Amino acid sequence: MHINFHVLGTLANTIVDPISLNYKDIPNFPVSTVEGHQGNLVFGTLSNVKVVCMQGRFHYYEGYILQKCTAPVRVLALVGVNKLIVTNAAGGLNPNYKVGDIMFIKDHINFLGFGGNNPFTGSKRSQIINKMGLEKSTHEGVYAMVGGPNYETIAEVNSLRMLGADAVGMSTIPEVLVAKHCAMTVFGFSIITNECISSYDDETEPNHQEVLEAINSKAESLKEFVTILVGNIGME
Ligand code: 6GU
Repeated sequence: MHINFHVLGTLANTIVDPISLNYKDIPNFPVSTVEGHQGNLVFGTLSNVKVVCMQGRFHYYEGYILQKCTAPVRVLALVGVNKLIVTNAAGGLNPNYKVGDIMFIKDHINFLGFGGNNPFTGSKRSQIINKMGLEKSTHEGVYAMVGGPNYETIAEVNSLRMLGADAVGMSTIPEVLVAKHCAMTVFGFSIITNECISSYDDETEPNHQEVLEAINSKAESLKEFVTILVGNIGME
């Protein structure tokens, strides 16, 4: 069984017996240009399941066409990956979401294509969450992808809320569409790295630093969550 999970930086370090390939050594592979995103394809084992981890992904705002952004997913399908875990950093639109919370993606709004494709949400996730004592900090919600690279204006944040989005980010949906096209099973979740600003009285601004800090502070529990999840998926 192969599972690819698409992670935030250091989660790849938990892979056992890793064999790491740098993207620049893979012919025609794109290379990551965003701070905090490394560029390695890491093969190995996690929870006794064979996995491939993309340490670093490609965003539309880096200037790649979507076919290029999602080409790695097709490569993974060709090497035998049939299950994909996708993750992202996202701004919380839902006022009940706190920084550091996890949002399981139950649906998405694809502003780039305004198409839709429902990612699979695995039945095992609630058992893991209960085991880890994370009940209060997890949600199931709608993820909206915008093109970036700038964060949303206050008017944009309020529009996204009105359209029913619970969190907003700049990635993931193209990979999910391609993974479904390759007949993969997909599970996705967002880490809420900041609360979206929706009032003109609020003088704070979203920034990349707070996004990185929120991810780093949650890294350990995210690693544990993904490791148990992979083990459970591997048994299916
Ligand atoms: Cl506030 N917006 C978007 N589009 N992406 C994000 C974010 C916000 N926070 C983390 N990623």
